Amino acid sequence: MRIERSWAMPNSETFSILPIKLLIEEELTGEEWADPFARNTTYATYTNDLNPNTKAQTNMEALDFLKTFADDSLDGILFDPPYSPRQIKEMYDKIGIPLHDTKSSVWGNWKKEIARVVKPGGKVISFGWNTCGIGKTLGFEIQRILLVCHGGNHNDTIITVETKGETANYPSLKQKTLFEVNIDEN
Ligand SMILES: C[S@@+](CC[C@H](N)C(=O)[O-])C[C@H]1O[C@@H](n2cnc3c(N)ncnc32)[C@H](O)[C@@H]1O
Repeated sequence: MRIERSWAMPNSETFSILPIKLLIEEELTGEEWADPFARNTTYATYTNDLNPNTKAQTNMEALDFLKTFADDSLDGILFDPPYSPRQIKEMYDKIGIPLHDTKSSVWGNWKKEIARVVKPGGKVISFGWNTCGIGKTLGFEIQRILLVCHGGNHNDTIITVETKGETANYPSLKQKTLFEVNIDEN
């Protein structure tokens, strides 16, 4: 695993931070990427942001956007969600949508859906305040971590690059879904 550290001024436009921009340009291989939280960025083929006052192609809740993709269909996902329940609440307040849930399951559900839509061998680049990424349980392996220090009064931005294993564990999720479907049918 490659671990790097750089220093840069903080910026809410994550991808404009130079060491992050360089990492994305290096790691974004393949043809079809999706960015469920794109704001005004255009690195991915398919861009979405809940906020309609952005340049994103669609304005769906991230989970609904991710559900539009088939299993194992994307080369990669840029995963730069709100980093805390407070950031989620601020966003919903700003665009006047009632917020139903800021529990950790929100992040968990996004991750499960990301694990489903990325191809085996495909990549996820996650941005946040921890190195959890999508995680081993969902079949992902960390390849690279970049710590971007913004000075003593700020959290670092942490970027985790993972690949989906060829025999990812996520078929167990598919089985779970089938199981749930069977319950519904009975
Ligand atoms: C950390 S910012 C992304 C910044 C972007 N990567 C950039 O470099 O400018 C997170 C974005 O997620 C959007 N967002 C917040 N909650 C969302 C949700 N539930 N579904 C989709 N987008 C959401 C916000 O509007 C915000 O633009």
